[in-house]
Formats: sequence, C-alpha cells, structure tokens
Amino acid sequence: MKEMKTIGVLTSGGDAPGMNAAIRAIVRAGIAKGMRVIGIRRGYNGLINGDMIEMNLRSVSDIIHRGGTILYTARSPEFRTEEGMQKAVRVCQEMGIDGIAVVGGDGSFRGASDLSSRGIPCVGLPGTIDNDISSSENCIGFDTAVNTVKEMVDKLRDTTESHDRCSVVEVMGRRAGYIALHAGIAVGATCIIVPEIKTDIEKDIIPKLQNIQKTGKKHFIIVVAEGVGKVDEIAKLIQDKTGIESRATILGHVQRGGSPTVQDRVMASEMGYYAVELLSEGIGNRVIVMKDNKVIDYDIHEALKMEKPFEERLFNIAHTISI
Ligand code: F6P
Repeated sequence: MKEMKTIGVLTSGGDAPGMNAAIRAIVRAGIAKGMRVIGIRRGYNGLINGDMIEMNLRSVSDIIHRGGTILYTARSPEFRTEEGMQKAVRVCQEMGIDGIAVVGGDGSFRGASDLSSRGIPCVGLPGTIDNDISSSENCIGFDTAVNTVKEMVDKLRDTTESHDRCSVVEVMGRRAGYIALHAGIAVGATCIIVPEIKTDIEKDIIPKLQNIQKTGKKHFIIVVAEGVGKVDEIAKLIQDKTGIESRATILGHVQRGGSPTVQDRVMASEMGYYAVELLSEGIGNRVIVMKDNKVIDYDIHEALKMEKPFEERLFNIAHTISI
C-alpha cells in the first residue's frame, strides 16, 4: 500500500450547496489523520495548471453554512484528453499529491476513475443539485435546491392565486426530473412534467386542468423539468385551450445557491470523512454514495454502470392527489 502523506481535494462540475461542508470535512479529517491537504482550485483545470493552496484547519472555518464552493469549480474539456490527464498526473507527482477527493457528478467520477487507473487514487463524492448520480439515492445539494424551489414557488403561488392564473415553472435538473418531482409534490403542483415520463400536453394536461376548473379551482401551478423545457409554449397552449391566463417562469441558477440545509451539511460531512478514511488506507477508484440511508462506497466503474430507476410511484401519487 502506498503511504498517503498528502491528499488533494477539488470540486468539479456545477456547484452545489453543501460542497463547502464536504471540503471542510475532508480537510479536517485529513489533518486529523496526520496528512497534508491541498485545495485544488477550479476542478480538474486547477489540477492541470497547478492552481492549488495548502489548506489548514482555519482555511475551512466559517464555510459550513455557505453555498457555492470556496475552491471554485469548472468543467474541464482539457482534462478529458489523454494529454490533459498526463499533465494532471505529472502535477500530482511534482506537488507530492498521493490521492484526491473529488466532489462532483458522474462526469467528475469518470475523471476520478481515469486518474486512479494512472496511479493517483481518487475517491468521488456525489455533489449535484440534479440528484442524477445513478449510484447514489441522494446527492449533496439536492435537498437545498428543492427547498429553494419550494420557497420560490410558494412566492409565485401568491401572485398566481391573486390573478386566477396558471404558472408554468421550469426547474433545473439537466436531463433528470428529480428536482421537478420532489419540488412539485412539495408545492402541491397540479401537474409535474418530467423527461422520464412521456407527457402529451394536449391529451394529458389540458383535460386535467379543464376537469379541475369544473370543481371551482381557478389558479394552477405546473412544474416542468428543464429536460422538457418549452415553458413558454406550454403556457400559451394552456391559455389558448382553457382560457386561464398563464405565465411562464424559469427559476434558473438561483436554484444552485444558498445556505445548505441540515440534511446536505450532515451528509456532506459524513461523506467527506468517509472519503478520507478510504484515501488514508490507500484505497482509490471508489465513490461514496447514499444507499438505504447509509453512507457506503462502490467501485467507480460499477457505480457508473448502475441505473437509477425514476420514482414512478411517487410520480403517480403526485398525479393522483393533485386534483
Ligand atoms: O448540473 C447542475 C446544473 O445546474 C443543471 O441543472 C443545469 O442543466 C446545468 O447545471 C447548468 O449548467 P451551467 O451552470 O453551465 O449553465
């Protein structure tokens, strides 16, 4: 086993609330185990360019409550090339970095796996608001993002109700509908539209709204995942077919910010500690995941091959009770 004297930590891909809590745990657990911890800035770009800082106990003070990532983040096309990867390995050797904790999504895990197979053991932690990491039931940032959507849509409801309107709200999630599903249930949306479930607006949504109109309801919230998009078109169609004045709202990047929830802070702290335990034993090519409410680890290759079934039962429950 290679002795781990120095570990690096980086955040990669879209930022997610709770990444700072993970960085804090990794730095403090690493130092507690007698290791040096290097903060690598701007994801894999920082690794390639040697953009790094030595972390100490105080570098991570007062960050647990902050959104974003103190190490900054980036998506790195250069790192995906063999040349970029070799450069990263050389920088690790020069800086004496023996292993790395990578907080990010599936794309970041691929990078972590590639580095592990080139002699730099890496451990991935799931950090993305989209919750679309197939191997993990929950990702750092998802709970905060869903709570942010809940707050925003609660505000939107006030004006939607006052004007007897229909609000069609687009939420993030890239190609996944987890934010839409969970936030949609939490805000009592009449309809939730996600890429995982085929939905025909004219056949599935309009008749439902018309039936509910007959019961006396005059205002509606419809949550649409960004993977479906077209919120302007959907709002116009609803207005034309039902006569309900409709507005489209795209919540956008506000969903990525804000102080992390307790759930995200606790999960990130536990995962960060766990990652250091693995690295300190020289174990790499692993991802830390949440399974049955427990923090465990998987081989990265196995994790990337996994499929995450969409929560169809929850979707059906939402559909049934939103009448
Ligand atoms: O993966 C997080 C995420 O916010 C997605 O929900 C969204 O599709 C994407 O990142 C937006 O990326 P960018 O910040 O590069 O516009």
